[in-house]
Amino acid sequence: MKVLVATEKPFAKIAVDGIKKEIEGAGFELVLLEKYTDKVQLLGAVKDANAIIIRSDIIDAEVLDAAKELKIVVRAGAGYDNVDLNAATAHGVCVMNTPGQNSNAVAELVFGLLVYAVRNFYNGTSGTELMGKKLGIHAYGNVGRNVARVAKGFGMELYAYDPFCPKDVIEKDGVKAVDSAEELYKTCNIVSLHIPATAETKNSINHNLLANMPKGAILVNTARKEVINEDELIQLMEERPDFKYITDIMPAANAKFAELFAGRYFSTPKKMGAQTAEANINAGIAAAKQIVGFLKEGCEKFRVNK
Ligand code: 3PG
Repeated sequence: MKVLVATEKPFAKIAVDGIKKEIEGAGFELVLLEKYTDKVQLLGAVKDANAIIIRSDIIDAEVLDAAKELKIVVRAGAGYDNVDLNAATAHGVCVMNTPGQNSNAVAELVFGLLVYAVRNFYNGTSGTELMGKKLGIHAYGNVGRNVARVAKGFGMELYAYDPFCPKDVIEKDGVKAVDSAEELYKTCNIVSLHIPATAETKNSINHNLLANMPKGAILVNTARKEVINEDELIQLMEERPDFKYITDIMPAANAKFAELFAGRYFSTPKKMGAQTAEANINAGIAAAKQIVGFLKEGCEKFRVNK
């Protein structure tokens, strides 16, 4: 059995070593395709792969057509919006993710970005502190929960909105569960996004919602760029010189944001949330173990397609 690790943005070497150990320990062969620059390279590499480990790499119908021997794709990470689930099902391919494995890394980056923003991007002027500020956590999944845990250390007041998470789960963490996204944005000085990119959430962070935020508001995005209505965010930031947007997922209109909103807009050049040795080890090795469990025992825990 051939297991391909196809990562345009590679894992730390220590994580690759761990994946190799799991795969070879099970008697399988590991093949690496890192830092590829062209889809053609991916199409070539998947030809004889029985299993693939990916990150944000795109697995669409064309890739699945080329991967004639493929049985399973594991997205080493949380969001699987980069995999065409219907096409995978049609090709008889199982798709899994590794929920929770990189969530602390993403949560820590939220605070890296926030301190940078409230200290005016370290430009020498007086900024503000996070202590006592109201933080809105938009979706209370694995990352949202870690954000809440870290925020408590900063002495922030915590609010969350998640229609899929029971209120008592949120409130037992000392976080106020609010009834709507509108209420969250109206209440909080800072909102941190942790929603997946789905048909329902795409473009959902719009002018209407953001206009509710109090003066001096900050929106921090470590989720997906697709959930933002970029045109409306630009309009809002033009109207509201007090509004800051900081993101780990470069918007399509990055150049425009950078030009119009210098000093209150920042994007990492490449998504860095899960880019730690620990997260790479956790997610990469979990992915390798899930592949071994699937190929050897038919275990389908964490399957996300039908
Ligand atoms: C995820 O969904 O797990 C994160 O967005 C991390 O993505 P990455 O593996 O591409 O860094």
